[in-house]
Amino acid sequence: MRHLPAFLDIAGRPCLVIGGGDVAARKIALLERAGGRVHVTSPKLVPSLSRDVAAGRIRHLSDNFSPDQLDGSALVIAATSDRVLNAHVSWEAQRRGIPVNVVDDPALCTFQVPAIVDRAPVLIAISTGGASPVLARWVRRRIEGFLPVALGRLAELADRWRPAAKSHLASVDARKAFWESVFDGPAVQLALDGRNDDADSVLRETLDRSRSIPGAIHLVGAGPGDPELLTLRAHRLLQSADIIVHDRLVSPEILDLARRDADRIYVGKAAGAHSMSQDDINALLIRLGRQGKQVVRLKGGDPFVFGRGGEEMLAVEAAGIPCHIVPGITAAAGIGAATGIPLTHRGTAQNVTFITGHGKNGEPHADWPTLARGGQTIVVYMGLAALPRITRQLLDHGLAADVPVAVIEKGTTPDQRVIVGALDSIADTVLRNDIAGPALTIIGEVAAFARQSEDLSQSPALVAAG
Ligand SMILES: C[S@@+](CC[C@H](N)C(=O)[O-])C[C@H]1O[C@@H](n2cnc3c(N)ncnc32)[C@H](O)[C@@H]1O
Repeated sequence: MRHLPAFLDIAGRPCLVIGGGDVAARKIALLERAGGRVHVTSPKLVPSLSRDVAAGRIRHLSDNFSPDQLDGSALVIAATSDRVLNAHVSWEAQRRGIPVNVVDDPALCTFQVPAIVDRAPVLIAISTGGASPVLARWVRRRIEGFLPVALGRLAELADRWRPAAKSHLASVDARKAFWESVFDGPAVQLALDGRNDDADSVLRETLDRSRSIPGAIHLVGAGPGDPELLTLRAHRLLQSADIIVHDRLVSPEILDLARRDADRIYVGKAAGAHSMSQDDINALLIRLGRQGKQVVRLKGGDPFVFGRGGEEMLAVEAAGIPCHIVPGITAAAGIGAATGIPLTHRGTAQNVTFITGHGKNGEPHADWPTLARGGQTIVVYMGLAALPRITRQLLDHGLAADVPVAVIEKGTTPDQRVIVGALDSIADTVLRNDIAGPALTIIGEVAAFARQSEDLSQSPALVAAG
């Protein structure tokens, strides 16, 4: 795109035009339509301009241009056949930071005057970047051909109903859906025909129908960190949500994928440092849902795996608000893929168990005798602090001391670190390597497969330890 399309408000502001011929007269007419106060400089004026001056509609400053005439101008248009004069005007205007247009000379312009289709208040501007005014006019004729002459009445209708739509429909999505159904519905023809009362009653009915559409909470899994592991559904919802309620494990790259004007609320939880209690989070979701918002509650990994998604779903549904679940790639699956660790492996690991190192009272709870039987994989979430106690339990219940264990920090991200060791020494190795978390621990023969992923070849090397 060569130029930024923008519409200038020049109402009541001085606009200088250099030139008094037919071309200048056309530009002046345009400036007057937009409410500009036109000052003109030219030794001669065509009769229509002389009449405007006589009637006081425009002001004839002088016969000749002098740079001080530019002072205070909102913009300047040079419409003379004298290229040296035009260049002088352009230079002086640019020096003062005043937007300048030189008719038919794009190189001297800082703005273009586009061809326009005027269906006030709807205004369509067409630019060819100065390449061909004739092409711009051809495009304008084609657009004019299919747009109703009374298009402005639709804008008036929208303007009339905007405050009501805004106050009755809290969410951007609900308002968008409302206006789409208005413009696809019978109100359009009624308004174009000038039947305002009938158009208004159609809008009233449409608004009543739209008000009954409730807000909803979408519990969305954001995956373990790599934005490419987001599901298509999660991505679509991020692009349309009114509000994103997210926690600590959701990476900034993933939040960047959300709609720019969506509100973001951080309710993050770090081990031992809850910034908002679970009850407060539930209450927040219910409040937003009742306001008719489309809320994406974005959670690291999968919302139903150690994510307290179940509690949020039950609370939201008990309040009568629809709750939709969008699964995410849980840390175990994402990290398994990123490190080449198959969670089950024929002949080596017949089953996999996900446990948390942070049970209800903060201590790890598990069926240790069953887990210590071997031939299986144990994945420990939130297990960094409890790692010495978890490994002790497994050893005490008979799991072999040399069973491989992999601890993966910030898995699937460019900062991923993988530490591999044996069951009886991994807790010390983790301490020595300053693993900070989030970290996942994978215990079992499959942990010996651990490698740094191909995709993450730029990241720090695998640390292999005994
Ligand atoms: C509250 S749990 C949330 C689990 C999440 N719902 C899931 O399905 O992955 C947080 C724990 O998940 C693990 N985790 C999540 N993302 C991780 C990552 N990128 N790297 C390592 N561990 C991760 C860590 O054990 C962390 O302490």
